[in-house]
Amino acid sequence: MPADSPGLPEVEELQVSEAQIAVHWKEESFYYPPPSFIGQANASDPAIRDRFTEDKFPQCFKEYADLLTWDEYWHTTLDTSNPPFWRWFVGGRLNASFNCVDRHLRTRPNQAALVWVPELEDEETVVITYRELYRRVNETAAMLRDFCGLKTGDRVTLHMPMVPELPIVMLACARLGVIHSQVFAGFSGAACGGRISDSQSRVLITMDGYYRSGTLLDHKEKADEAVERALAEGQVVDKVVVYRRHPGEYASKTPMVEGRDFFADEVMADHRGKLVDPVSLPAEAPLFIMYSSGTTGRPKGCQHSIGGYLAYVTGTSKYYQDIHPEDTYWCAADIGWITGHSYIVYGPLSLGTTSVMFEGVPTYPDPGRPWRIAERLGVNIFHTAPTTIRMLRKVGPTEPKKYDYHFKHMTTVGEPIEPDVWRWYYEVVGKGEAVIVDTWWQTENGGFLCSTLPGLDGMKPGSAGPGVLGIYPVIYDENGEEVSQGSGRAGNICIRNPWPGIFQTIWGDPDRFVQTYYEKYNKDPKSTDWRDWPYFANDGATQSADGYFRILGRVDDVINVAGHRLGTKELESASVLVEEVAEAAAVPVIDELRGRAVEMYISVKPGADSSDVEEKVAKAIETEIGKVARPKNVWIVPDMPKTRSGKIMRRVIAGISNYTDVGDITTLANPEVVEEIRAHVHSVKEARGEVPKALTEKEAEEIRAFGQAE
Ligand code: WT7
Repeated sequence: MPADSPGLPEVEELQVSEAQIAVHWKEESFYYPPPSFIGQANASDPAIRDRFTEDKFPQCFKEYADLLTWDEYWHTTLDTSNPPFWRWFVGGRLNASFNCVDRHLRTRPNQAALVWVPELEDEETVVITYRELYRRVNETAAMLRDFCGLKTGDRVTLHMPMVPELPIVMLACARLGVIHSQVFAGFSGAACGGRISDSQSRVLITMDGYYRSGTLLDHKEKADEAVERALAEGQVVDKVVVYRRHPGEYASKTPMVEGRDFFADEVMADHRGKLVDPVSLPAEAPLFIMYSSGTTGRPKGCQHSIGGYLAYVTGTSKYYQDIHPEDTYWCAADIGWITGHSYIVYGPLSLGTTSVMFEGVPTYPDPGRPWRIAERLGVNIFHTAPTTIRMLRKVGPTEPKKYDYHFKHMTTVGEPIEPDVWRWYYEVVGKGEAVIVDTWWQTENGGFLCSTLPGLDGMKPGSAGPGVLGIYPVIYDENGEEVSQGSGRAGNICIRNPWPGIFQTIWGDPDRFVQTYYEKYNKDPKSTDWRDWPYFANDGATQSADGYFRILGRVDDVINVAGHRLGTKELESASVLVEEVAEAAAVPVIDELRGRAVEMYISVKPGADSSDVEEKVAKAIETEIGKVARPKNVWIVPDMPKTRSGKIMRRVIAGISNYTDVGDITTLANPEVVEEIRAHVHSVKEARGEVPKALTEKEAEEIRAFGQAE
């Protein structure tokens, strides 16, 4: 029954199936792309959709493959003979480095390929033209081959911060067919070591240090820990190549290990001017591994192909990011995430545009920094995540006005965006001139799955939009029944068809690949018809009558209050409607009566009066969602515990609320805030006699896993 009919006996409510659960978010009205955008858009003719209708699948993806330069053209678009291990563009041969670098030399050798903005504002911006990129990628490939001894098919782990050497090393690997596995620099040495051993890398490429919030961090110390951890897991690392943030100086306290550690700038001296022919590789050879941390267990090494992946990110960059070679495109993600791989490096460079990279923190030294970068470089396409948008709104709500930049296009990615935050992005950051795409996808997917076509579709705040070209999503309930469009009910979003960007397998664990993503809705394990193998994304969603999907987040990010399945996002979205609220996070507390109850953590905008915020938040949730969702407590905190990539660590505050272990907090950007929050919450709970009984092991496990997915 719908969640807005309280009054019914609890026992009955607990039997509510997924498909029957109503979703509480209200429909938003549409915004439309400005004519100035439509006039220049890569996709401006609605007939483009006809080229990607289901009857044209899989041949429709020839259009994306044809954006690439092939050494040998493929003969089979999609081979489904060994499901769900799909093979795209079979028979084709190509090189990703050639496609992102060499092929632009003829047309635009002197155009900037990468523009790197260091964090310190008085340090010079670095401009790397396509010609210069070609030179550096070649020399680096020579170093990887001749000094590191790497060859086609080997894996190499990169633990690099946001410096130009990161994409250069990636492209050098791609030139040789060496499979790169870049680990986000904010991750610990231990996390890096686990990924080194999982991918069996004998070489680690890292850096001595990099800037975060004005401080030169010691990064090399993590390399020692990583090598040690890898060894404990049985993997020997025999070479560590250390780039130096300031060549000639060394920013780390840890000594260089004789015979193992080498400074890149010294080693590179032997490879100046060398050229390395791009290795012509089969379309289905792996390009890279990107680890995605799941809810439980070991991180999954998502293996992406050369041909399918590159075709997919090139096509989606063209039509959904609307990239033209003459644009200046800035995706403010970290290359340590899939967003950076697909939409800082491979997609934009394959299209021959100028891709901006920024080393540091967007609010350092002040929240005007991103807008100064945009103004100075003439950025006209901007791409970031809701967490950054919220943070910039919190600390600098009127900053964008002060700068003379003009975006034609903006992206939001990574989590659902609250409509209120979306409107600030649109009106203040975009100055009402930029079209917005809310792109839903995952590490596993290579590129976008749902988004509006920026020049053709209306935008609806909080909705990702329809499936992108050639992607046919569907929502299933727990029993595999389709949840109909416009029913207002939530279910599991799946993609009915394979697509070129989908990952090929989990590195070293094909069974887990099948189990996690396909088993749930597979109709017949023997079938070689792709229609029997829907991809289960592990995300909850609804689809409105107009066909737009609203993503509710990972299926484990819901709080079940007396049978009412409340999305953390809808609770948070209701909370940020309160004027004073900057950020909100919802967590479950074990509750004897209702199974689970909701607790909200709130940070307020600087200078805002926080005196009635608790009650205002509770009221907003009651109004927007219903009495059933009224939080048990609303905690005002100085800041949310966040990862270095800006995701709120809900499991940490859930641990505080439930008096369970908060787990590892060493990878947080602000670990100090955890103790402060705990002291406050626990003292109030103690005063109110709300200290919970010790949780059962199962309950404790649920709390630990809450919001774990990154
Ligand atoms: C999860 C994937 C996609 C690259 C960055 C994150 C959530 C992602 C959206 C969006 C609502 C979103 C989903 C997804 N998510 N984009 N536009 N709206 N939710 O990659 O770390 O693999 O995370 O992020 O829950 O499953 P990831």
